[in-house]
Amino acid sequence: MPKTTIKASSDIALIKYWGKKDEVLRLPENGSLSIILDGLDTITTVEWQASLTKDDITIQGTQDALETSRVGKHLDRIRQNYSIEKGAQYAKVVSKNSFPKGTGLSSSGSGFAALTYAATLAAGITLSTKELSILARQGSGTACRCVCGGFVEWHDGQTSETSFSETIFPFDFWDICDVVAVVDEGMKKISSTEGHEAAHTSPFFTARQQHIASKLQTAKALITDKNFAALGELVEAECLEFHSILLTSQPPMVLWYPGSVQVMHEVQAMRSEGIPAYFTINTGFNVHVLTLPKYESLVQERLAALPLVKKTLTAKVGSAPQSLDQHLF
Ligand code: PMV
Repeated sequence: MPKTTIKASSDIALIKYWGKKDEVLRLPENGSLSIILDGLDTITTVEWQASLTKDDITIQGTQDALETSRVGKHLDRIRQNYSIEKGAQYAKVVSKNSFPKGTGLSSSGSGFAALTYAATLAAGITLSTKELSILARQGSGTACRCVCGGFVEWHDGQTSETSFSETIFPFDFWDICDVVAVVDEGMKKISSTEGHEAAHTSPFFTARQQHIASKLQTAKALITDKNFAALGELVEAECLEFHSILLTSQPPMVLWYPGSVQVMHEVQAMRSEGIPAYFTINTGFNVHVLTLPKYESLVQERLAALPLVKKTLTAKVGSAPQSLDQHLF
């Protein structure tokens, strides 16, 4: 059976997915909108091997029990729903990221998008983007978007079949740059899974649900108009609203590090000098700073010069997952 290698990129949510209306199927409480990030990538090679008696999974050079079990469960979904060509039941999986995982940079999104695509293709199963999105979603919510390219909308849906993502603008529609300020490379202490479960305990969660659909429509209109300043303001406000829910959930989640706050202040200082830069943060401490190509190196230099920033990564709007000829094993 063919060995298959897929490169999939992570994304940054402009309108964030937070809270689930179905835990098992991972149906989100609200629709979300993101940009795929070329530069924050996962490469995964999968081969279904008849000689294996269990899955053999290596992520970033290690076989961590928690991670391999989550990947194994996703392979189970594929085994249960499809027949693997030529009878091999178990897969060898090797995966690596170009960016730190477990730090709020959505490595599970690119990881499960690459895994879903590689594992199905390697099994001789050809799925449409919609089918891939539905399957990937069950491994990781964010992965539902990361099987697409460009600017992506995830429809929340009421059933598994109606909760999927699609590209609303292609990757070359608008050049937006993302400079990621890495303030720590250690793993975050609270997982997104725990956070989603606690979302409903925040008194602000109901208020968010009341306006999130119209906020998403506004964001789409601002992308259509390429209105960067208004989009950036909306994205920053959305990030702060999302973190206000984290702060007021039970248990509360204070995810920012001193370096995260330093970056936020620097972004606001740059804006007061006329530099278009806007921050957003997921469930972690590393900060995404969105800007336009003309300002990318300036923003990168300013962020890299901050005492609490360990390094910066840059990404541009990326395309959908791609097949590679070079395999990881
Ligand atoms: O896919 P998860 O369970 O890691 O949740 C990710 C949630 C956020 O990153 C905070 C928002 C989003 O839409 O990506």
